[in-house]
Amino acid sequence: MTIHVAADALPAKKSSLKPKTIPFYSNIIGKSPSICKVFSLIEKVRDTDSTVLIQGESGTGKELIAQALHHGGDRGGKPFVPVNCGAIPAELLESELFGHEKGAFTHAIRTRIGRFEMADGGTVFLDEIAEMSPVLQVKLLRVLQEKKFERVGGSKTISSDFRVIAATNRDLAEEVRLGNFREDLFYRITVIPIESPPLRARKSDIPLLLETFLERFCASKKRVIRGIDDDVMECLKRYQWPGNVRELENMVERMVILAAGEIITMEDLPPQLLSGQDQAVSPVVSDIPEDDFCLSDVVADYERKLIVRALQQTGWVKNRAAKLLKVNRTTLLEKMKRHGVVKPAVR
Ligand SMILES: Nc1ncnc2c1ncn2[C@@H]1O[C@H](COP(=O)(O)OP(=O)(O)OP(=O)(O)O)[C@@H](O)[C@H]1O
Ligand SMILES: [Mg+2]
Repeated sequence: MTIHVAADALPAKKSSLKPKTIPFYSNIIGKSPSICKVFSLIEKVRDTDSTVLIQGESGTGKELIAQALHHGGDRGGKPFVPVNCGAIPAELLESELFGHEKGAFTHAIRTRIGRFEMADGGTVFLDEIAEMSPVLQVKLLRVLQEKKFERVGGSKTISSDFRVIAATNRDLAEEVRLGNFREDLFYRITVIPIESPPLRARKSDIPLLLETFLERFCASKKRVIRGIDDDVMECLKRYQWPGNVRELENMVERMVILAAGEIITMEDLPPQLLSGQDQAVSPVVSDIPEDDFCLSDVVADYERKLIVRALQQTGWVKNRAAKLLKVNRTTLLEKMKRHGVVKPAVR
């Protein structure tokens, strides 16, 4: 893969430079089938007032999806008001959402409007909604049904015209089953559910994301990266990305700053990518991802993990690792080369 960073840039190690157009939708980069499904859902629902619940692992881009729904829709010119229900202490969240009247509690020295009022005409983004206390869940249900509420310590009924988009990285249906989340509120906010897919289920987006982040960080850190080795790309595609796009973004920032040369090589990768230490060696049979699945790749990945584990077990002494794996040393060296296995540098 090649990164277009400067007009006078030299050709990269493996391929020539040519400018590329990055496919993206309202800052969400991707073109895999699973992210395209998200784009088409956004298109369908962005102009409606229906409540949307975005579910997905941390770092998959839930906030970007919420912003795309708001900014691309009819309410786009109006406020987008995010509230992180997990970050605001339960006792403060109520007045944060509904506002309060002067004197409502000890530190309420003046009247303050809440996020629902601020969002009039626009959208309230209730992030980490699973963390909301049961008491507040009841109050939220009422607001969603009536679009009317009272400020804390007030008696005047206030109306506000806002749309609600909620997000969580938990399985909200499971939280309902466990008794942690109200079933009636669950149905009220899940009118339109959107699944934000994990990066491991859309690995075909990795080159695009990598290219974008490299360009972005090269510009902001005033560094020049002219290309990336093919075996690095293979390694990035093999990795499971537990931290999703956020992890990839942070890794690229780190590589841009620390890279030894202008071409990213295996030596520039962080240890967890090289060693596969984050991954279990035994083959875990889970759901087959909808896209990017290939049996021979999975088998190759398992072989690579076993090789890495044997090398780790033997202190990276290749003779001993080969004996452990019951292959001869040349076969092991060949396979290490093919899988891009190198001993992680001590940092
Ligand atoms: N498809 C994408 N294209 C470009 N950047 C992305 C994409 N998905 C995520 N990101 C970037 O990754 C980071 C995390 O995204 P975001 O905050 O939207 O994730 P999240 O799902 O809300 O995570 P959390 O559950 O931890 O709040 C952000 O810097 C965001 O810009
Ligand atoms: Mg978020």
